[in-house]
Amino acid sequence: MNKIDWNKLSFGYIPTKAYVYSRCIGGNWEKPVVTEDFTLTLSTFAGIFHYSPSCFEGLKAFRGVDNKIRIFRPDCNARRMQDSAKYLDMPYPSEKMFVEMCVRCVKENLEFLPPYEITGASLYLRPILIGTNPQLGIASSKDVLFAVMCSPVGTYSGAKSLSCGTAVISRNYDRASTFGSGCYKLGANYAQSLHAYNIAHKSGYRELLFLDSATKTTIEEFGSSNFFAIKGDTYVTPRSNSILPSITNKSLRVVAADLGLKVEVRTVQVEELAEFDEVNSCGTAVVITPLSSIDDKPALECEDVSRHYTFGKECGKISEKLYRRIVNIQRGLEEDTHGWCLFVNE
Ligand SMILES: Cc1ncc(COP(=O)(O)O)c(C=O)c1O
Repeated sequence: MNKIDWNKLSFGYIPTKAYVYSRCIGGNWEKPVVTEDFTLTLSTFAGIFHYSPSCFEGLKAFRGVDNKIRIFRPDCNARRMQDSAKYLDMPYPSEKMFVEMCVRCVKENLEFLPPYEITGASLYLRPILIGTNPQLGIASSKDVLFAVMCSPVGTYSGAKSLSCGTAVISRNYDRASTFGSGCYKLGANYAQSLHAYNIAHKSGYRELLFLDSATKTTIEEFGSSNFFAIKGDTYVTPRSNSILPSITNKSLRVVAADLGLKVEVRTVQVEELAEFDEVNSCGTAVVITPLSSIDDKPALECEDVSRHYTFGKECGKISEKLYRRIVNIQRGLEEDTHGWCLFVNE
């Protein structure tokens, strides 16, 4: 193994030792297998290559101050994957199987788990569920492959934790439609955002903020994460059926209430951006990433900006408190009063 420079980790692919997989053929799940061979052999007619029967998850394992290994809320990811698979009408692993395979993946790749001392670093777990049976007509997959891989990661942007980013509103590209699949973690949802992301990145923006596709008046979420804002002593986050129910956001709402903030999950108008004190993206990969500004443009390709919202050059005080609490729970520095962490025995 090449020595990893833990201080240089970003959110990029790093080969690890092994991954765990199981196939469901004809309705029966095989015993999970650990393999060091990352090459898959599939029929070119497998559904995954045609109609995108594919969903995935993202969760993290941490080395704590007490040297113990914690995985953050894997049961929530298991249930979210089940919801995604139900939408695709394909078989899915039980919660127990999902969690056990995540634990196994961590144990098989211990040398890739960043040490406690590296702030913001973790072992990112990537479970995938894909349709594998050969088919021609449009139909859900009956046979699937469930695999859990991992990669050591640092912060999403590669910059220091809590460094501010900029975002642009996507008016001429949608991520999800009103009655579509936005609330599931399907590969297809991300395919829809790639082109828009490329345009935004070329213009120097880190994030893309999507609006509701029907009216283009309310905030949905970022392409990689949920949206939350702080207004006075209130945590505000959008309610919508077409955004991904983020496990980080769900946890932050609990932490916010624990810290005495009011929590509002409601429709959020775009113009409210002018009234927010602190604006952030949140998710497993980004944790909390503060936004220093958000631009509104008639179209992503346009040079001119119709409205420029600013939120300060540094992470807001309340957002930072929320960040510290969640990260401290994950790293064993504060008591996990809600029982969110699953310990991995070495
Ligand atoms: C589109 C989108 N929204 C929200 C999130 C945040 O979800 P979670 O906090 O469960 O990682 C993610 C990341 O997984 C995402 O890709």
